[in-house]
Amino acid sequence: MDCAKLLSSNIRNFISQNDLASRFQNSGIAIIPNFLSDEGQRIIFHEVANVLPLLKRRNFTERTYGTDRIMNTIGSRELFAKTTYIQRLYESLIIRTTLGNLAGEAVFLPADENERVVINRLSRKNDVHGGHVDTYSFAFNIVVEAPPIGSGGELLVAKGSLNPEDLAGSDVDRYSFLKNDAYFLRTDASVHGVAPLTGTGFRTIINMAYASAENKDAISYSSDSLYG
Ligand SMILES: [Fe+2]
Repeated sequence: MDCAKLLSSNIRNFISQNDLASRFQNSGIAIIPNFLSDEGQRIIFHEVANVLPLLKRRNFTERTYGTDRIMNTIGSRELFAKTTYIQRLYESLIIRTTLGNLAGEAVFLPADENERVVINRLSRKNDVHGGHVDTYSFAFNIVVEAPPIGSGGELLVAKGSLNPEDLAGSDVDRYSFLKNDAYFLRTDASVHGVAPLTGTGFRTIINMAYASAENKDAISYSSDSLYG
């Protein structure tokens, strides 16, 4: 099947009408609501549901940034072994071209094969994805499950800072999402993380990593502890 059928039909219009490329290049984030088509949601969310039992519980303090990772995850190797369309979508020309247009530069599949596409799931109160800066320049995230607004799990970004302590400061941007939103994030230039869940609900995302020409051959510092 053509990967374009997985995407809602108005994506190109939405991106150009909202001038998302210049917004992304200025702000480091572009949000695309209603990303997957009905058929795309049926196929992709079904693949995610099938692998949820394979996610591993993680609970540790990451050494480089000294922040907590309390959530369930699966890395690319296992994910790609059990699914079909998630990998096809990730590698598709339509996605790579679209993201390259948003970024204003070509995007590449990163060298670290286990971190190419991962699923991160915050499922219990106090689950958190602590502040960090990524090895690779870009992450494209599809929201599979979103906690109710006001129950934590917001994306936090301290624009231009590389210090995770700044995520606790007042100059932090907070983003809540709905199911089937997608967001494209510049991940190597600003510290970012996900706020702890404070109530019931789940925050499940498919996180697709893309590299710039400069960092495509780098090996991720966090891959083994989070996805190994
Ligand atoms: Fe990240």
